Amino acid sequence: TAPELIRNFCIIAHIDHGKSTLADRMLQLTGVVEARAMRAQYLDRMDIERERGITIKSQAVRMPWELDGTPHALNMIDTPGHVDFTYEVSRSLAACEGAVLLVDAAQGIEAQTLANLYLAMENDLEIIPVLNKIDLPAAQPEKYAEELANLVGGDPDDVLKVSGKTGAGVEALLDRIVERVPAPVGDADAPARAMIFDSVYDTYRGVVTYVRVVDGNLNPRERITMMSTRASHELLEIGVISPEPNPTKGLGVGEVGYLITGVKDVRQSKVGDTVTNLAKPATDALGGYSDPKPMVFSGLYPVDGSDYPDLRDALDKLKLNDAALNYEPETSVALGFGFRVGFLGLLHLEIVRERLEREFNLDLISTAPNVIYDVTLEDGTEVKVTNPSEFPGGKIKEVREPVVKATILTPSEFVGTVMGLCNERRGVQLGMDYLSEDRVELRYTLPLAEIVFDFFDQLKSRTRGYASLDYEPSGEQTADLVKVDILLQGEQVDAFSAIVHREKAYDYGVLMTGKLKEIIPRQQFEVPIQAAIGARVIARETIRAMRKDVLAKCYGGDISRKRKLLEKQKEGKKRMKNIGSVEVPKDAFIAALSSD
Ligand code: GTP
Repeated sequence: TAPELIRNFCIIAHIDHGKSTLADRMLQLTGVVEARAMRAQYLDRMDIERERGITIKSQAVRMPWELDGTPHALNMIDTPGHVDFTYEVSRSLAACEGAVLLVDAAQGIEAQTLANLYLAMENDLEIIPVLNKIDLPAAQPEKYAEELANLVGGDPDDVLKVSGKTGAGVEALLDRIVERVPAPVGDADAPARAMIFDSVYDTYRGVVTYVRVVDGNLNPRERITMMSTRASHELLEIGVISPEPNPTKGLGVGEVGYLITGVKDVRQSKVGDTVTNLAKPATDALGGYSDPKPMVFSGLYPVDGSDYPDLRDALDKLKLNDAALNYEPETSVALGFGFRVGFLGLLHLEIVRERLEREFNLDLISTAPNVIYDVTLEDGTEVKVTNPSEFPGGKIKEVREPVVKATILTPSEFVGTVMGLCNERRGVQLGMDYLSEDRVELRYTLPLAEIVFDFFDQLKSRTRGYASLDYEPSGEQTADLVKVDILLQGEQVDAFSAIVHREKAYDYGVLMTGKLKEIIPRQQFEVPIQAAIGARVIARETIRAMRKDVLAKCYGGDISRKRKLLEKQKEGKKRMKNIGSVEVPKDAFIAALSSD
């Protein structure tokens, strides 16, 4: 297709404002998916996405659309809305010239509407403001058209009003996309340059790479090179997704599609890399994406230690599909061999863990998540701590923790509630604005550690679901943080160490010692469970001694029964971990780690 006839656009919106539903309607109206093959959230291919009703991965689909008798090719990229997946959004934006900014006509502008709009503006995209869900009785299209027009600049009458559910206004929106979104520009005669914006591992076909061609063209059977890794391969297949993969005779300027090279090694197809021809290579790579920085770390361990190699293999494969994933091996006294994995946030952690368990059939346990701390020792040594058990024991000069700038949009009646929550979480207010009479924007600096856990849940429940949150990293600050260790009979149990604010150390100690007392079975001797900061014990519980003699119940000489009992005890022992001389069933660690 000639570049003049191509339009590459994405749909951006706050979570649940209806992107996936609108995408469904577009697929149907353009005839890409027949009515009878239609299912809700067509592009959310992963089971987790469909069950949770959220989009995690971006998707690219090509749709034909005629305007005034001229056929056009629209490439639509559906993007996720949750703050943890902003990274996916920004990659998709770089492959587009335009963005449909979708706002729920019953909700108005929310925190991620703003965040995504700013991202689109940074990428110089043409913004098409659209109000969705006009079929809802609670919709207030006039009011929010005004709000939206104020935000993006322009006339309220210019804001399109659609319903992804009924299909109302969607044809007009497709026309508007053709009219307003600029056609891609590139040099058709130059050496090929295509940006990799995603790739997935397919069991049968190997690595499938999604690209947007900027210059030149890519053709089947020719050899291509990945510019950063210098790896070269034969192009076995090239094509477009519409809505299933369709092989084509090649991809030219401005086109979006997929490549298959038969490569199995997942590391050779890096998101953000540039693909070029081997015979006629480009000299400069396209500006890639900066690698996303993990914000939250957690240890991931196989429940069954022998699954460790499988876990490593699974992480390698998942990484291909999730550039934000970071991991390195670690060992724990309590849990054995595993990985310390970096995530963009808690939802990201949950999704990764669930994908590993489902797609790779693993049974996993994750340790309590923590953020990165920078520690300066008194002798000037700098230490980066991603695992609490590595927190230095020596003389510490200062500890710095990551902070974020948070933007919270809330109805004005909840302003006090939201401020209260932010104060509890060591927040510092930066500003407050009324977006309209009844909608307030609050800006805070908050420690990341305070918001990654249950902040969002708290915000939602205290505002009856009305407040929305967005945040971005904003450097670090010094804080009075300490490491709390948990000791079993004087031996530290690494998986339970935590870095917490000094004021919350006692609560953590009491909580963990109490929990472990419940879970760890009695031993043949008394076992103290202590919580300590350095050498200072701040909480203590005791597991009382019990004599466990499995033969006690066997009178007389039934030797086979005795043997059976001893065998059983031995079996049980295999599943035990020794912390010093204390035997702890692995299940106990798992229970203690997962019960909150
Ligand atoms: P994420 O992918 O998680 O970001 O969500 P999304 O923005 O893709 O939203 P989705 O399309 O999943 O829609 C969210 C909810 O709104 C669903 O329950 C939809 O059925 C509903 N919905 C979407 N569009 C409309 C609409 O036009 N009218 C009405 N009444 N409901 C809609």
